[in-house]
Amino acid sequence: MRTFRIAPSILSADFARLGQEVKDVVAAGADIIHFDVMDNHYVPNLTMGPMFCEAIRPHSSAPIDVHLMVKPVDALAAAFAKAGADIITFHPEGSEHIDRTLGLIKDAGCKAGLVFNPATPLSYLDHVMDKLDMILIMSVNPGFGGQSFIPHALEKIKLARRRIDEYTAKHGGEIWLEVDGGVKVDNIAQVAAAGADTFVAGSAIYGQKDYKAVIDAMRAELARVQA
Ligand code: DX5
Ligand code: ZN
Repeated sequence: MRTFRIAPSILSADFARLGQEVKDVVAAGADIIHFDVMDNHYVPNLTMGPMFCEAIRPHSSAPIDVHLMVKPVDALAAAFAKAGADIITFHPEGSEHIDRTLGLIKDAGCKAGLVFNPATPLSYLDHVMDKLDMILIMSVNPGFGGQSFIPHALEKIKLARRRIDEYTAKHGGEIWLEVDGGVKVDNIAQVAAAGADTFVAGSAIYGQKDYKAVIDAMRAELARVQA
């Protein structure tokens, strides 16, 4: 049986009250805090640096999942590891040496993962499965919250699920399959059925007043898939 995890993206939180927003969503049942880093270069938006991660760290009993949408990656990955990140993922297009970047994240004591844009091929996985703790499939083009889920991401999730299952059946270990972009109560079951286990949701959660009601509704949908 797969364990499902809900990862609210603080990109859609009220940045003027970030610490409290993190606490509130953890109290509402979040499993992971998803932390979007955008550099106005790899993606056309600018968000939070390592100082933000360090600042929210004491407010979260949940792991912090840093999604780096930056180029280059290495120096920032090291800085986020130091700032208290638990998981660090990056886009292969952002790194000249993917194996080296994964290695430096692991050496810094964090879980490491690769992120796939809608048009990025899964072939980047070919030689690095042994270094991965997470695969993140983007179901929108990165850069903004509140976009619509791109349906063909479901096919890619299925392919990634197959790769993970084949690899772990042979070699053991655990690789999480996260999906990011346009995930809501009304499509989370479909995303889970395709094979995802970790669900990022920004606007769907922070766009509502009652975070717990949304997270509970998501879990109820996930329970239907598990049944
Ligand atoms: C998009 C970010 C997402 C974003 C998702 O580039 O990586 O994590 O916060 O937001 P929603 O859930 O609103 O699509
Ligand atoms: Zn993200």
